[in-house]
Amino acid sequence: MASFILAVAASGFLAWIVWLSARNTRRQRQGADTLRHANESLEAQVDASAADLRDSNARLRSIIDCAVDGIVVLDAHGGIEAFNPAAVRLFGYEVHEVVGRNVNMLMPSLYNEEHDTSLARDLVTGVRKIVGPGREVTGLRRDGTTFPLHLSVGKMTVGGEQRFTGILHDLSARVRIEKQLREQTSLAKLGEMAAVIAHEVKNPLAGVRGAIQIIGTRLPKDGKDARIVTEIVARIDTLNELMKDLLLFARPPQPKLALVDVGTLVMATANLLRGDPAFEQVEVRVGGGPARALGDAELLKIVFVNLLVNAGHAMKGRGTIHVSVASIAEMCQIAFTDEGPGIPADVLEKIFTPFFTTKVRGSGLGLPTVRRLIEAHQGTISVACPSAGGTVVTVQLPGERLAVAL
Ligand SMILES: Nc1ncnc2c1ncn2[C@@H]1O[C@H](COP(=O)(O)OP(=O)(O)OP(=O)(O)O)[C@@H](O)[C@H]1O
Ligand SMILES: [Mg+2]
Repeated sequence: MASFILAVAASGFLAWIVWLSARNTRRQRQGADTLRHANESLEAQVDASAADLRDSNARLRSIIDCAVDGIVVLDAHGGIEAFNPAAVRLFGYEVHEVVGRNVNMLMPSLYNEEHDTSLARDLVTGVRKIVGPGREVTGLRRDGTTFPLHLSVGKMTVGGEQRFTGILHDLSARVRIEKQLREQTSLAKLGEMAAVIAHEVKNPLAGVRGAIQIIGTRLPKDGKDARIVTEIVARIDTLNELMKDLLLFARPPQPKLALVDVGTLVMATANLLRGDPAFEQVEVRVGGGPARALGDAELLKIVFVNLLVNAGHAMKGRGTIHVSVASIAEMCQIAFTDEGPGIPADVLEKIFTPFFTTKVRGSGLGLPTVRRLIEAHQGTISVACPSAGGTVVTVQLPGERLAVAL
């Protein structure tokens, strides 16, 4: 009997153990299921967040890449960490050439050596000066040229470290327009002044010239007084020429446009200069294909005379002036190359300034008038001095293809 009771108790205990282990297994499975669900939902959340982050990164990158303004990210010491495509276009550097280097490489030495407006210094020590609405600074391109730009800087802290984002807006176009406006305003004033001079001075001068000539006829020929009178008349003529030049510069006439064979016109102009003793040993060679420009032959003659005379003077009246004519796209290009000494950089930047001259008898109105006349034709003029020597003046005028617009 006792062994029977023991057997029943043992089997009961066994059954309880089996039940207990089944319950545990069930609970464990339920726990694992709950854990798996939680894990899956967490993974989904992480995936969604990662996708959001990727989207937001892509959006941010596309904004930075497509921005019209240059964007430069700097570390706390002014080291460049990021440089967007607009900054590449602005400065001419590739990204790998600037990343890791100091931002001062983007500014002229005036800024980064002596001047206390050093950007890196402003950023690191005097942040308040530059963070905010920004200010105008000068940028330095890879090719060494400088340009005006507006710089605004924002400060941020990433991982406990300061970073600066500089937004760089190119001001070249605005500065150019402002300069043109200033020039136009002063030219308008000069025009008014020239008109007054023409009226108030030219006519009395013509009267004085006539009177002096009459007195001259009454003096014994070849006498000392007759020579003085001839000298006075010559000086009055020079004054009249200056007045004419001033008027032409201040109020250039509206060009009467027609198709002009440029090579032929340059040759005809050079022939006019043959009589000038200063041109006796100067040869003018015209090369290139036949090209026609849309221009006013009389005004273009004035342009060509000025350029040829300048070249002749530079060569001290001896040598060859090569003139090459070509049609380039819609323009007609005429390049005057002389064998002179070239133009020093400090002179070159002033040659289009009215009354600037390096000659004893120059008026300094030649090139400014040439530019005014070419611009009246919607053309351009540029002057370059190749390292091999000499000066190349390149004129571009609207070409034959634009004649349909006539
Ligand atoms: N081809 C050239 N080679 C060297 N220097 C030049 C050349 N053309 C112009 N220059 C420089 O530019 C200056 C200005 O030229 P611009 O023709 O305006 O006046 P100018 O020749 O001095 O006087 P003018 O009014 O009589 O022409 C000259 O004095 C000269 O120094
Ligand atoms: Mg001249």
